[in-house]
Amino acid sequence: MITGGAGFIGSHVVRLFVKKYPDYKIINVDKLTYAGNLGNLKDIENLPNYKFIKADIVDLEDMRKIIRDEKIDGIIHLAAESHVDRSIKDPFTFAKTNIMGTLSLLQAAKEYWESLPEKFEGKLFYHISTDEVYGALEITAPEGVEPPFTTEASSSDHLAYGTEFFVETTKYDPHSPYSASKASSDHFVRAYHDTYGMPTIVTNCSNNYGPYQFPEKLIPLFINNILQGRALPVYGKGENVRDWLFVEDHARAIDTIFHKGKTGDTYNIGGFNEWRNIDLIKVLIKTVDKLSGKPEGSSENLITYVTDRPGHDMRYAIDSRKLQKELGWEPSLQFEEGIEKTVKWYLENKDWVDNVTSGDYEKYYDKMYKNR
Ligand code: NAD
Ligand code: TYD
Repeated sequence: MITGGAGFIGSHVVRLFVKKYPDYKIINVDKLTYAGNLGNLKDIENLPNYKFIKADIVDLEDMRKIIRDEKIDGIIHLAAESHVDRSIKDPFTFAKTNIMGTLSLLQAAKEYWESLPEKFEGKLFYHISTDEVYGALEITAPEGVEPPFTTEASSSDHLAYGTEFFVETTKYDPHSPYSASKASSDHFVRAYHDTYGMPTIVTNCSNNYGPYQFPEKLIPLFINNILQGRALPVYGKGENVRDWLFVEDHARAIDTIFHKGKTGDTYNIGGFNEWRNIDLIKVLIKTVDKLSGKPEGSSENLITYVTDRPGHDMRYAIDSRKLQKELGWEPSLQFEEGIEKTVKWYLENKDWVDNVTSGDYEKYYDKMYKNR
């Protein structure tokens, strides 16, 4: 069972599992909020080992029924409200879905698995979380050095904006309602492991980018705005730092951890790829201009500095060496390559963007599934 499989990361995970494991039956459970789009899965929706069920993870009875009826033995839980700016406007929805939804799923899985003769054996509840639960890091450099500076944290030449990184043991210190709700859900998952012996894994990943990301997050929003010649709203001075990972690399990490991870454990996922927002935006502008036939850099005049996001975390930076050493996962793409691939996808899939920006995608479920 994959929850949130109609969303950005979930759709990549569903596609990977459905194609790679024809012997698994993949059940995608998604409420189809504004962020859920079944159009993301058109290429695999008719494969025999895939099934979609529209349901709200907050609904305990529905979760009990699905898990029992479908005889679920593994859960990869991605369903969530995921956008910080929305959480600032509407924290209650975040608490409801991210905390109560995770709790309903945990409880429903626990009850079903405990009712089986083999109980928790061969079962796994894998919870997908974010690096934002760790709080914010500072921008600092060793004495006499200007950030970014080279570190030995990764095998490649990693440029870092600070001397500290998030490791699996970093204390939780969430600041936004989004990260507070994700932190709470992570605690519930660990509580079910420690209290009831549920086999669980939690992973905390850095910012993802790539195809099918809803154009409210920085990268797809800015690609779309550059293409439309609209202003690019940079929060504050554009100096905040994020650590970016191509979404297919995250999906591969999830596959590796689901199959080889140690239960009860936590893994950080990231590609040692820190960028100041303004520098990333300039790379984006250059790439979109080049691929859409405009003079390179000509869209820089769209950059518009706007009021900062309240409580805006300064820097995120993941140390993923545990995952790399213990399970052998590595990111596959350099950032410029990933950005080029992403921009090309948005250029070639303007219909997808028009569909999600117009709201038409919300009719897809009715058309395709309602009478099945
Ligand atoms: P997304 O917003 O694109 O997709 C979320 C999906 O969950 C949507 O399909 C939505 O319909 C579904 N959903 C929401 N509420 C639901 C509910 N109550 N019941 C059932 N389904 C519901 O999110 P995303 O960016 O793909 O993130 C997926 C997960 O990964 C989230 O848990 C997020 O916290 C985590 N994560 C995201 C990033 C990132 O950069 N996007 C990074 C690290 C971790
Ligand atoms: P976002 O994609 O919302 O991810 P997160 O807040 O989870 O890291 O934002 C990435 C960075 O870009 C973050 O520092 C906020 C900034 N940002 C802007 O400057 N302007 C925007 O319009 C958006 C959406 C984000």
